[in-house]
Amino acid sequence: MSDNLSTSAVLHCENLAKTYAEGRMRTPVFDGLGLTVEQGETVAIVGASGAGKSTLLHLLGGLDVPTSGEVYVAGQKMSALTDAARGRLRNQSLGFVYQFHHLLPEFTALENVMMPVMLAGADVKAAAQRARALLDSVGLGHRVEHKPGELSGGERQRAAVARALVNQPACVLGDEPTGNLDEKTAANVFAQMLELNRAQKTSLVLVTHDRRLARKLDRVLELHEGKLRHLPHEQL
Ligand SMILES: Nc1ncnc2c1ncn2[C@@H]1O[C@H](COP(=O)(O)OP(=O)(O)O)[C@@H](O)[C@H]1O
Ligand SMILES: [Mg+2]
Repeated sequence: MSDNLSTSAVLHCENLAKTYAEGRMRTPVFDGLGLTVEQGETVAIVGASGAGKSTLLHLLGGLDVPTSGEVYVAGQKMSALTDAARGRLRNQSLGFVYQFHHLLPEFTALENVMMPVMLAGADVKAAAQRARALLDSVGLGHRVEHKPGELSGGERQRAAVARALVNQPACVLGDEPTGNLDEKTAANVFAQMLELNRAQKTSLVLVTHDRRLARKLDRVLELHEGKLRHLPHEQL
């Protein structure tokens, strides 16, 4: 296949394999995985701990390289890009939300959310405006000057969601973004993330062990023994 894929898919991988190798120890995680995520589509990935969900998300986000196979982000073949070009593509086309918020502690919520916008080349004023709008839409308009340590767990995750979506990426990749929160807060953060994704027509690939959250997405896949299989909603 060529270096540029001309489909509407925001994310595509084929024949993806990952084996961790450290010294003489080899850990095969999966082999021959294929996945296509269309524009605006929301996909949940469920599976037991250790099944390889985080590994898959890292490969899809260009944070790690596959042992074999290819990943295409917004039609671009990741392996054909330089590190710098891959970084730019990540900044422009992908947003990440993790279980732990990864906000920078010495900066305010506003500054944290402004950062990806400024990295993309916007000036301070435009970045602040855009970041404020996103923080407003996740209900943090009254907390923009707070630093992460001055926010609750749920508020920190909502700030991380705002940061992931602030550049209007083609796709957000979420690795158990509500995994550290109590049930009610998790449902709330999840609902806001989904609403923002849908409003922006951003695709979402969400790793979660919570099947009740998973079934709210368009499609649910289970990673099991190195294979991805479709789970019908009525089985969840
Ligand atoms: N950096 C690494 N080096 C070696 N093995 C790893 C590494 N990261 C993950 N693994 C192994 O790969 C498997 C899948 O891990 P992971 O993708 O984190 O699973 P999940 O997110 O589904 O819980 C596990 O058996 C784990 O121990
Ligand atoms: Mg994981």
